Amino acid sequence: MEGQEVHVARIAIVGAGAIGGAIAGLLEMTGEYEITLCTRRPLPQLTVELPSGVVLVKAHNATDPEDARPVDWVMVATKAYDAEGAARWFPVLCAQGAPIAVLQNGVEHRERFAPYVDQARLLPVIIDCPAERPADGMVRVRGPALMRVESKPLGREFAALFAGSSASVELVGDFVTAAWRKLCLNSVGALSALTLKPAGVLRDENLGRLALAIAAECIAVGRAEGAQLSDSLGEEILALYRGQPADSVNSLLADRLAGKRMETDARNGAVVRKGEEHGIPTPLNRMAVTLLDMHQPQTMKAGL
Ligand SMILES: NC(=O)c1ccc[n+]([C@@H]2O[C@H](COP(=O)([O-])OP(=O)(O)OC[C@H]3O[C@@H](n4cnc5c(N)ncnc54)[C@H](OP(=O)(O)O)[C@@H]3O)[C@@H](O)[C@H]2O)c1
Repeated sequence: MEGQEVHVARIAIVGAGAIGGAIAGLLEMTGEYEITLCTRRPLPQLTVELPSGVVLVKAHNATDPEDARPVDWVMVATKAYDAEGAARWFPVLCAQGAPIAVLQNGVEHRERFAPYVDQARLLPVIIDCPAERPADGMVRVRGPALMRVESKPLGREFAALFAGSSASVELVGDFVTAAWRKLCLNSVGALSALTLKPAGVLRDENLGRLALAIAAECIAVGRAEGAQLSDSLGEEILALYRGQPADSVNSLLADRLAGKRMETDARNGAVVRKGEEHGIPTPLNRMAVTLLDMHQPQTMKAGL
């Protein structure tokens, strides 16, 4: 109606890497939002190649919380180890009470952000979306985006944001199980980063046995955390890796090859941590963390 202000939802994405870029592209598809990309370095433009076509994201870019404005939703898409830096954006972005969706791997979304945000405003998101950032300002999404959130009011509100995009958002009644299933899958991915070989390496019989043993530790810990994980999950995960193209590179391996910090702590590290809480031994996951951490950039710099 003439003279009536139309409210366009304002969404800020903290961390415009592979996942943040993919989310920006998906939201841009809807044509509904005023998007702010919160980055550490200036990002003059962002082009996202989605399976359905190329999207040029029309967004504001803020490189310092002081340049940002309050929004209606915040989506955090930094790596898990950058939670503290991501949280520096919250006082400004959430000044009017915006909820925060955390799109990260692992099972500790809530613990990670507990020091910075009221839990009632936090929405953990599990995301499956094969995405990479071949260059600054360019994100390539190689497959469908599927997100899982708790089937609660905040989850439903989040899901509605993506109506009109090509993303699927599944509302799950048992988020703990969904998160641990994904962690079981990710825990096995450490074998690629350890051997410096893509997914095809898991077709080897011995590596397959190791994969099952790593997954079994994660399944045991996940069950102690209340996840409903079937006895066949390890075999399902192994079959999934073996069904991938042999040259598929997971993000741990990609980060190691690129000399970037790996998210070992949020993945196998979480299995070890939660295992300790329940008195469940996790020697293989512990070994994976210990060995991979010897290849973290900060360890390499220290000359160890
Ligand atoms: N990529 C995938 O296919 C995929 C799939 C499923 C789940 N995930 C999960 O999604 C999460 C994000 O992964 P990703 O692959 O998108 O990582 P990424 O490409 O490394 O992107 C992370 C981004 O966060 C930015 N960042 C870090 N601290 C920041 C801060 N304080 N303020 C603003 N920006 C900040 C980084 O900035 P710089 O550019 O300056 O480093 C980078 O652009 C991870 O938990 C990952 O495990 C990824």
